[in-house]
Amino acid sequence: MIVVRYKRILSTNVRAKALASRDAPNWTVVVSDVQTRGRGRKGRRWESHKGGLWFSVILRPKLPAGKLSLLQFLGSNATRRAVAEQTGVQASTKWPNDLVLKSGKLAGILVESKSVDDKVSFVIVGIGLNVNQTERQLPAGATSILVSSGHEHRLDDILKSTVDNMRSQYQSLSDPAKILDEWWRNCIHRSRLVQVETPTGIVKGTSIGIDPEGSLLIETGKLGVETVVEGRLRI
Ligand code: BTN
Repeated sequence: MIVVRYKRILSTNVRAKALASRDAPNWTVVVSDVQTRGRGRKGRRWESHKGGLWFSVILRPKLPAGKLSLLQFLGSNATRRAVAEQTGVQASTKWPNDLVLKSGKLAGILVESKSVDDKVSFVIVGIGLNVNQTERQLPAGATSILVSSGHEHRLDDILKSTVDNMRSQYQSLSDPAKILDEWWRNCIHRSRLVQVETPTGIVKGTSIGIDPEGSLLIETGKLGVETVVEGRLRI
């Protein structure tokens, strides 16, 4: 694994995309102590002060562009495993791309890619994990491993373990059910009542699974099972 380190950078995803366009090898990792313009989903800002783990991994999977959401589930599984192995903290997955504890959001994953027609040129899996921030240093609704475990953890150990876990899950890309099953087994809203704000309205019901494309399946009662492709979920 090649690790490109920064003390301060705009965004590791932006840097990784530039490196990938210049043929950087698969599994190149860009990591920074601080991001001054960290990117979240839907063009949102991602607060990235010192103490968190902010990194992006360059991949070139042999997948059609329509299946790329799998990488987000792979990233969540790998981060969840690494956090448990390195810190003992047991996080849950939350659709579409969060890791959460009861006290709030622990991590987010931003998958960005470049494809020509349906052929993927590269994928950037960007992972933001709140590790050593105190409660005061976190945005509203967020939590950290320090807040949960009561002590600090080594960022490098968690980084290495996450990438190792990504590599082992990568073998399963040809068997998406394996990745999706693990994600669902650890999902905080498995079989629970949820409300999802989608671009076309609110869907309420019991979350009953995810389909092979990574969409959330919600049993709504009268309207039957709805397939939600994107949205903001509340439990
Ligand atoms: C989300 O909105 O939940 C996704 C957040 C992803 C943040 C990470 S931090 C490392 C990488 N670089 C970025 O600019 N964003 C991702």
